[in-house]
Amino acid sequence: MAKSYSALQIVLHWAIAALIIANYLISDEMGRSFYNMMKGNAVSGFTPVWHVWAGVAVLVLALVRLVLRMVSPEAHEPVVTTIDKAGVWGHRLLYVLMLAVPALGVIAWFGGIAAAADLHVIVMNIMMIMVLGHAGMALYHQYIVKDGLLLKMLRPR
Ligand code: HEM
Ligand code: HEM
Repeated sequence: MAKSYSALQIVLHWAIAALIIANYLISDEMGRSFYNMMKGNAVSGFTPVWHVWAGVAVLVLALVRLVLRMVSPEAHEPVVTTIDKAGVWGHRLLYVLMLAVPALGVIAWFGGIAAAADLHVIVMNIMMIMVLGHAGMALYHQYIVKDGLLLKMLRPR
């Protein structure tokens, strides 16, 4: 097993995960708020303010994380088998999705583009399925394979 992630990488991983889950839950009124905004009506209430700014925070924090990942690869396992490659591509796809979902939200909201809002929802659903698979794999490694993988994302090196 490679070294753990750094403290900053761990904080960013869990902060982004928490913000994504919170935005999934705090989103019910977004369709109506978006419709009102497009019609030129006033947009009010907690949900649009939270959803937009928590989502923008995900975009910024995910970009910081991507840079950190490039400059500090110590936590990455050697890639040997096809399964290892699947893991690497799974993580790459998660990065693409966690950048694309808020980026599409920003284009929809600040650009007033309805097609981007539709794509935002479609890509968000794909991301959530990937996240479920990802969390399942992490728990499978930790509790069935028992290789301590989860600890890499809990205890800083
Ligand atoms: C919205 C939720 C989540 C997102 C977007 C996410 C995303 C990611 C990404 C992109 C990586 C690769 C890190 C890198 O190479 O820089 C990663 C690693 C990891 N994640 Fe998550 N994650 C989420 C939730 C979770 C949950 C719920 C768990 C545990 C149950 C978890 C456990 C892990 C572990 C153990 C690693 C290290 C894997 C390794 O190094 O092989 N993640 N996560
Ligand atoms: C990672 C961050 C984000 C997540 C997980 C997320 C998740 C969601 C969810 C679950 C919905 C409701 C879908 C439905 O109607 O069932 C939604 C709708 C929406 N979100 Fe986000 N969102 C994120 C970031 C953003 C950002 C940054 C913005 C704008 C700056 C945004 C703008 C919108 C808009 C305008 C809608 C309404 C779309 C429609 O109904 O056509 N979102 N989002």
